[in-house]
Amino acid sequence: MKKKVGIDDLAVYIPKLYLDAEELAKARGIDPGKITKGLGIEKMSIPDAHEDAATMAAMAALQLMKKNNLNPKDIDFIHVATETGPDAAKPISCYVQGMLEQVYGERCLDHIGAPETKFACVGATYALIDRLAYIASGWNKRKYAIVIATDIAKYDLYSSGESTQGAAAVALLLKENPRLLAYEPEFTGFGTVDDRDFYRPIERTTAVVDGQYSIGCYLRNMRIATDMYKNNLIKFNIIKSDQENLSDKLDLISFHSPFPKMVQYAFASFLIHDWRRFPRWDNILSKIGPEPPRKGLTNVEFYVSKDYKRFRSRFSKIEEFRDEYNAKVANSLIALKLIGNSYTASVWLCMASHFGNGRDNLDDKRLGVCSYGSGSSAIACSFIIQPEYKEVIKKIELMRNLSRRKRISMEVYEDLHEGRFKTDESVISPKKEFALDYIGKEDKNVGYRYYKYIE
Ligand code: COA
Repeated sequence: MKKKVGIDDLAVYIPKLYLDAEELAKARGIDPGKITKGLGIEKMSIPDAHEDAATMAAMAALQLMKKNNLNPKDIDFIHVATETGPDAAKPISCYVQGMLEQVYGERCLDHIGAPETKFACVGATYALIDRLAYIASGWNKRKYAIVIATDIAKYDLYSSGESTQGAAAVALLLKENPRLLAYEPEFTGFGTVDDRDFYRPIERTTAVVDGQYSIGCYLRNMRIATDMYKNNLIKFNIIKSDQENLSDKLDLISFHSPFPKMVQYAFASFLIHDWRRFPRWDNILSKIGPEPPRKGLTNVEFYVSKDYKRFRSRFSKIEEFRDEYNAKVANSLIALKLIGNSYTASVWLCMASHFGNGRDNLDDKRLGVCSYGSGSSAIACSFIIQPEYKEVIKKIELMRNLSRRKRISMEVYEDLHEGRFKTDESVISPKKEFALDYIGKEDKNVGYRYYKYIE
């Protein structure tokens, strides 16, 4: 019999420091409205001097283990996805194992599998599917797998990407018969194209992004993946014919959010494509005018063309769009506006934000996940929200943690960004947390990172 597998719980770690978006805008001579309204970002999470993607991952995992009273011997895998790992060979998952053993006891996790997956911001979704497939196959030897998405979104000072930075880690607890979300594996759709929209060569700590082009790639790949997802729903008779639309089958959607406005672009493009063949479309066109012709443009060229952007912008203002957006997407962005980008973690933070801000009964609702990673690949998949979800989400505490952070000045932000503070010169001294202790300087350990749990 087919096993029900999925996400049993999740834990979020957000650094305790943030930069105010208006302050950044003023310092860069940009109208603050461009960042707050144009991109939808109010605050950006900034890691302290003792933090990196590995400490954030370990903090999320520790929180997940503590709140579920997990025994290390019940954990089969710790699987990390990141695009900002500090080492090109050693995976963060192994650093996380070492850090957790400082708390739970030496060698208590030496039985785990600990891979790392990389595919820009979609990496954690790939890791999740791998681990769920493994559990569904019955190959797991222990009850739980933990998938951690951890990243620090960082661009050069003064670059256009600077206003879309941020940092976070999300740890997902996976098992058979989950309490939160049951995965629907048979519907998952992928869309992959070899492209150069965003990348980070090994020698750089900041990413290179062709922002507008990347928006086009996101929309192109998402369309390929959602078309495949819809075809799978048709194949399994969830959608009765291609005359039914996909959006009516999804109750909530969590999109990858490099900046919240991108999610509005993605949801509008999704609905335009989904609604095009249906009776309501003529009524909509009568309000906003005809869709612009493609005139031999590639999909990416079309999605970033002025004519299409104007059409999408008009579509985003009509009542039909606003109603769908407010019902299915808006809650996912409440936390994201206060965090910024967090690459692999972003789509899972959107999910946590849905749970932290929704008031309706979500039992048995279908939650779509639309994940995108530059380079480039999109995954469209879905989960059914489980009856026990209310108990689980009570302990997520995302919004409360966001309200307890410390604002830093531009000066401190730039010092942290440029690595001018030593690891023991944190803005907030670490307490009951993992910290980067020092980086090796001898022949045999040059560049090796040593981590410590600080009581
Ligand atoms: N007040 C209000 N809104 C304003 C404004 C102002 N003063 N000035 C501009 N805007 C709006 C624009 O109209 C636009 O909104 P619209 O598309 O709804 O019309 C929005 O702000 C963005 O402006 P735009 O000119 O497109 O921004 P940009 O060219 O400077 O680039 C990014 C923005 C996001 C592309 C850039 O910051 C970036 O590349 N970030 C990295 C993104 C990333 O990580 N991508 C890779 C992974 S997916």
